[in-house]
Amino acid sequence: MKEVAAILQSQGTERDACVKVLQEIQGVFGYLPAEALRYVTQHSQITSRQIHGVATFYDRFRFKPVGKHIIRTCHGTACHVNGAKHIGHAVEEALKIKQQETTPDGLFTLESVACLGCCSLAPVMMIDETVYGRLQPREMKKVLKQYAAAAKAKS
Ligand code: FES
Repeated sequence: MKEVAAILQSQGTERDACVKVLQEIQGVFGYLPAEALRYVTQHSQITSRQIHGVATFYDRFRFKPVGKHIIRTCHGTACHVNGAKHIGHAVEEALKIKQQETTPDGLFTLESVACLGCCSLAPVMMIDETVYGRLQPREMKKVLKQYAAAAKAKS
């Protein structure tokens, strides 16, 4: 828990540091590991009740590990009217997982979001920081295959 100790040292141990502490923990681990949260409650004034409240209020916090790549499918209004549902289903079918789940090989985590801020490209999907706009399910499957092939080539 060296990393968590360093985070508490830099952000402080007061209750009002809670959001910053959780953000940094997630930045380090990719999610909020139970062990790290326990450490926080034992070494600061931040309580488990406060952590739970904050982490469930902001839906960007995760309690489970995520895959190497995070796929965000947009289901905002513009994407919805342009076929986001089909994209979402196609991704789920291709990866054999549902929203908020991670593939068994740890390669992809699928998340549904309200708007990715590029509505003119609807329907939109994002993989990590790359935006894929005006998608058709077939193109989306091609993109996923490219990521899977790249991961295979690296291993
Ligand atoms: S509604 Fe999908 S990017 Fe805005």
